[in-house]
Amino acid sequence: MRKNIEPCIIIIFGATGDLANRKLLPALYKLEFENLLHKDSKVIAFARKQKTDQEFRNDALKSIKYFSKSKIDEKVWKILANKLYYHVSELQDIKGYSKLKQLIKKICSLNEDQCNKVFYLAVPSQFFEAIVDNLKKSNLATGSSRIVFEKPFGHDLKSSMKLNKTIKKAFKENQIYRLDHYLGKELVQNLLVLRFANNIFDPVWSKKYIDHVQITVAEDIGVETRGNYYDNAGALRDIIQNHMMQLVALTAMEPPRSLNADDIRTEKVKVLSSIKPFASKNVKNIAVRGQYGSGVVNNKEVKAYRDEEKVDKKSNTETFVALKLNIGNNRWKGVPFYLRTGKRLNERVAEINIVFKQTSCILFCDQIKNIEPNMLIVRIQPEEGISLQFSAKVPGQKMTIDTVRMDFCHECKFGPKSPEAYERLLYDIISRDQTLFTRWDEVEIAWKIVDRIAKAWKKGKVINYNAGSWGPKEADILIERDGRKWYKPQSPIYSSLLQNNSKI
Ligand code: BG6
Repeated sequence: MRKNIEPCIIIIFGATGDLANRKLLPALYKLEFENLLHKDSKVIAFARKQKTDQEFRNDALKSIKYFSKSKIDEKVWKILANKLYYHVSELQDIKGYSKLKQLIKKICSLNEDQCNKVFYLAVPSQFFEAIVDNLKKSNLATGSSRIVFEKPFGHDLKSSMKLNKTIKKAFKENQIYRLDHYLGKELVQNLLVLRFANNIFDPVWSKKYIDHVQITVAEDIGVETRGNYYDNAGALRDIIQNHMMQLVALTAMEPPRSLNADDIRTEKVKVLSSIKPFASKNVKNIAVRGQYGSGVVNNKEVKAYRDEEKVDKKSNTETFVALKLNIGNNRWKGVPFYLRTGKRLNERVAEINIVFKQTSCILFCDQIKNIEPNMLIVRIQPEEGISLQFSAKVPGQKMTIDTVRMDFCHECKFGPKSPEAYERLLYDIISRDQTLFTRWDEVEIAWKIVDRIAKAWKKGKVINYNAGSWGPKEADILIERDGRKWYKPQSPIYSSLLQNNSKI
């Protein structure tokens, strides 16, 4: 549903960086294309490099052309280009903020303090506090403004609390948008509909029918150019603390009272708080960490993590995590949630598998041990969709059972033009909708869980795995100990129907 679009000024800190080029600028273009940016809206790129407005526009166009899924329409680009401005300043330099204020005054059709500002912090989190401080000191953090933070929000519970305290001095919770781009993905948003708008799924969504849940976020890429950041973060902070915890919360939460942002977020907090606490000494029984060595991914030889740019040669940072969590509430008691994520794995895939209990042995007892369980697979990416796995009879005289899948192909039904996560999230920020952004208490509880693991991992060593594999064998042992196994993601049958990646 289209919301009211107000004019606003989006100030992007770190506007020449990777995130801005790959995601934010293409998302702004797409919003312009869809006519979802108000004609009086403006974008100010705040960055250190010396550039003129025109130079920034030229560079922005290159990035948009390179990273957009769709071809660029010259007319649309011209409209967007006229909205783009460049402001040179160091992030820590207070003078740069008074000049920013003047620029806002000049380009905003209203008084500066009434001007509807969005401060987007596309910078590493060590700069967050300095920027917030400067915004406050320069009186830019006015009541109608909003501030957007990329994850990870802090490095641990302590630093995130300190950061939150600083932010709260300048902004209220309803002005703070903590962005986790997984929440903008179509199939993640679809979880609420799948669970609560379908009477065939809602009643079976509990320990009575579900044996366990598996969530996989696998990447085939390595650390790329982000060695500096990643070597300090690792997979636990980069993916588990945010994307994975959000997937657990949306899969496991109770129905919210309404679709109101706070009602949904309250339920997410409740379920995350019900994750059974574990002592640091028991972390070895529920978590496995790995680091990729060299190997072959997509038929290409790739180097080991420790040989990547800006990574410590002796790094003990994990690029893979497998984790077993138990939720101690009435719905989920005894249903483990197994999570795994890693870089340089066999393929790029994110999916949630709801694995149902095996049917009881009434009629097909001799075959039951060979029958795969019923499974509902929410395929977040690629080839978004939902598949239901069940048993069917193989044609012929004998009663032989095979596993079949019924697939809902998102792109086949709705076309290839669903909004990208950042497009959706930017649009929500502009229209002041916080539903897909994390509230402080969600972040806090996720850090509490992750901190316990991080503490245990201060000792000991990561396990090496070959690039191109599915992680260390210890991750298999983690689940096999419980008499279960990881399900290898399967390309859905509809993948052949999908257009190849050519631009549309
Ligand atoms: C980011 C992480 O949040 O998510 C990256 O910092 C990771 O390390 C990325 O590559 C994965 O996102 P997606 O949308 O490609 O699954």
